[in-house]
Amino acid sequence: MTRRGDSVGPVKFLGISGSPSEASKTLIAVRTAVEQAGAYPEVSADVLNLRDHDVQFSDGRDPATYTGDTRDVIDRVVAADALVVGTPMYRGGYTGRLKNLFDVLPNDALEGKPVGLIATGGTDHHFLAIEHELKPLVGFFRAYAVPGAVYANNTHFSAGELVDDDIRRQLRRLAANVVEFAARVPRDLIGTDGPEIPRKALNDA
Ligand SMILES: Cc1cc2nc3c(=O)[nH]c(=O)nc-3n(C[C@H](O)[C@H](O)[C@H](O)COP(=O)(O)O)c2cc1C
Repeated sequence: MTRRGDSVGPVKFLGISGSPSEASKTLIAVRTAVEQAGAYPEVSADVLNLRDHDVQFSDGRDPATYTGDTRDVIDRVVAADALVVGTPMYRGGYTGRLKNLFDVLPNDALEGKPVGLIATGGTDHHFLAIEHELKPLVGFFRAYAVPGAVYANNTHFSAGELVDDDIRRQLRRLAANVVEFAARVPRDLIGTDGPEIPRKALNDA
């Protein structure tokens, strides 16, 4: 078992927050995980707060043709080796902002990469949405959903801070294990070739 302070080789770790809120509990949770990942030597850890970026609504085009902020965000996700993805629960699922990010990504953007999942909700009653909403999304991208997600509710935050020690511990563990996964599991350890999903415009022959 690698410990903080041990080298795990170069890993680009990206924490994505899909919350639209200005004062975001999800962003705090994602930052906590990113700080932990950044404690490993040779891990460069960064936060992508989708609220700060003007990501264009997906219009079905080839992802290679997006420009500007959308291009920058796509490129940061593609460059990452390991990720945590956080979202508030909105109507029992992830936010539209996060969905749109996944809609503009190329199909192979996350292939073989470990993804740690973080969700926040008003209460705990949407905990299982991690399993039936977020994990299928990770599965579509042929990425690894690292077992053991973190779910925090409103009582775990106070005055702009994450105040629950157990959630902090869970976030630290999740981040550490996502880093470990990236360091130990080769990106090409995938069971089968992915299905070809041909793009076809309405007017194509
Ligand atoms: C539009 C909207 C829908 C929400 N739907 C749910 C929900 O279905 N289940 C839940 O537990 N909390 C729900 N909430 C509460 C948020 O998920 C919760 O407060 C979350 O921690 C907010 O995260 P943020 O501070 O990062 O925005 C909803 C909040 C909003 C604004």
